[in-house]
Amino acid sequence: MKAPALLAPLAVALLCALGGARSAHADDSLYSQLGGKPALELVVDGLLQRATQDARIKDFFKETNLKYLRTQLVDQLCAVTGGPCRYEGETMANAHAAMGLSQAHFNALVEDLQDAMDAAGLPFATQGRLLALLAPMHRDIVTR
Ligand code: HEM
Repeated sequence: MKAPALLAPLAVALLCALGGARSAHADDSLYSQLGGKPALELVVDGLLQRATQDARIKDFFKETNLKYLRTQLVDQLCAVTGGPCRYEGETMANAHAAMGLSQAHFNALVEDLQDAMDAAGLPFATQGRLLALLAPMHRDIVTR
């Protein structure tokens, strides 16, 4: 048998293997792309760690029950990325109304989130998809 004739079945086997690997990840939600709940928990922990030490915004979190906030954030991010969670917390408008947040505060939190996603090893494109889902929320969160 000539070399090309031998290579053809090999190529087919390789394509089948790749196809199999792909269909094992048939769920292409952002939630799966991020790495599911454990990855979201890692990101939220990193975000809260950074935000509560960030001189630009840490004072907002002084009276906050961080355990409750962590749960709400994980559920919210899980739900908006297509994961199997229900967010049962406050609306973004209600939760932030009394804080008088500016665009600069919002940007500071987004920077902390980007740092947390970098530290969690999330690919740039995946980070972008999550940020694109959160960005429109500034309309309800930024009030001055
Ligand atoms: C896209 C941006 C943001 C998202 C997705 C988000 C999400 C949330 C969620 C899910 C809650 C819990 C709501 C509840 O009480 O049930 C919350 C509360 C809170 N957020 Fe945000 N937030 C954002 C921006 C910000 C910014 C910019 C700040 C301040 C710089 C901030 C500070 C807080 C604080 C301090 C609480 C707790 C309030 C309390 O103690 O009752 N958030 N946020």
